[in-house]
Amino acid sequence: MACPKCGDLLDVVYDWDRLRVPDSLKTFEQQWARRQNPHCFSGVWRFHDLLPFVPLPQCVTVGEGQTLLHRSEGVAEYAGVAPGRFHLQYEGMNPSGSFKDNGMSAAFSHARFVGATRAACASTGNTSASLALYCAVTRLMKAVIFIGSGKISYGKLSQALDYGALTMQINGDFDDAMARVTEVSQQLGIYLVNSVNPFRLEGQKTIMFRVLEALGWAVPDWIVVPGGNLGNSSAFGKAFHELHELGLIDRIPRLAVINASGASTLYDLVEKHGVRWNEGSPDAAKVGRYYDEMDAQGRRASTIASAIEINRPVNFNKCIRSLQWCDGVVREVTDQQILDAKARVGAGGLGCEPASAASVAGAKLLVSEGVIDPDQCVVCILTGHQLKDPTATVAYHTTDQDQFNKILGSRGVRRAAFANRAVAVPNNLDEIVKAIRLYS
Ligand code: F0G
Repeated sequence: MACPKCGDLLDVVYDWDRLRVPDSLKTFEQQWARRQNPHCFSGVWRFHDLLPFVPLPQCVTVGEGQTLLHRSEGVAEYAGVAPGRFHLQYEGMNPSGSFKDNGMSAAFSHARFVGATRAACASTGNTSASLALYCAVTRLMKAVIFIGSGKISYGKLSQALDYGALTMQINGDFDDAMARVTEVSQQLGIYLVNSVNPFRLEGQKTIMFRVLEALGWAVPDWIVVPGGNLGNSSAFGKAFHELHELGLIDRIPRLAVINASGASTLYDLVEKHGVRWNEGSPDAAKVGRYYDEMDAQGRRASTIASAIEINRPVNFNKCIRSLQWCDGVVREVTDQQILDAKARVGAGGLGCEPASAASVAGAKLLVSEGVIDPDQCVVCILTGHQLKDPTATVAYHTTDQDQFNKILGSRGVRRAAFANRAVAVPNNLDEIVKAIRLYS
């Protein structure tokens, strides 16, 4: 997956002059009318003209990308954005419950195209759930997944096990699992589907195509996304850059990438150390020194948002390229801010997992700083479904102080301002009626 010349990740580049690209994004709406065709139904492949790296008949779909852009007034108020201007893109509605299915359908299609029979990934849980699902549904490949021991939420682990993936629990964290899976894939010739794989990112571009589609092809002012391995932010920047080059949009939205403060490599390097894409020549020495120091001090990522608990984001360079293309910013938010934002999203009825709520916490922070104007059109990406991590949700709402302290207090979370606590009642009709009268 690395360039033989510079050693950095490969990128998919199209010769647009030789491809048939629609002259208006509106053209894509016609696909929906033909949705009995699985490729027209797919929220990824109905945009095939914009990611034409494998012939359409060979593209694999399990019905991914039927996701929703929801105008959320309750969360808008929480974030400080004007009514009607704040949207949540619910990628948790994908078949495996996270945005990963967008990229997996693309990588999986390429894997089949090149004749792979086994596919592998390291994961904080969602990539592995997605790979396992694609293997189980299509029966085209065997999934081999690497996870850090104790580092993955139960919702995600249960998916991999249920779907029948060969599950390797490494005594280490995501970065250790990533290092091992890279070696193993090379040694055994297994197809690697982590976002080092450039085709994954092609699929993830379609999240932005669907956001534009839902806005009637109007370009929002801000896209706010959590940052982990930085595949999404890399893909989103590429999507907008290509659309702009093709003349399909007239301006590019700004991008905000939000780290958890317990896993803040991107924030530290961009906002504190001033690392920039710099037209393809980022300050690699500065980045190297940062990682050397991280290793010397034994610093490891730690956050309740386990999906983004990552030390060395593999797509760092592509992400800072996106930041340049999209005039982007990076922020970090604490686990307290993440869980409060998650509770507000959940109170809106369509919930998310902790990592996803970093986007909403980040938008709120950027509004408070005056970087996002309250009247601007803001889209936060909710990357994963609420049921992915019930442990974090229940711990936030619990009345059991020990449980709260053990799971959240240990991460610096002090209070649950938006908790909806269960009411304990005796098994007695009169007492139950009394309690309902009191609380409703
Ligand atoms: N949100 C969720 C729910 C995720 O699962 C991930 C990444 C991210 C955000 C970060 O996205 O890597 O594109 O910056 N999860 C990976 C996994 C690492 O293994 O499932 P990114």
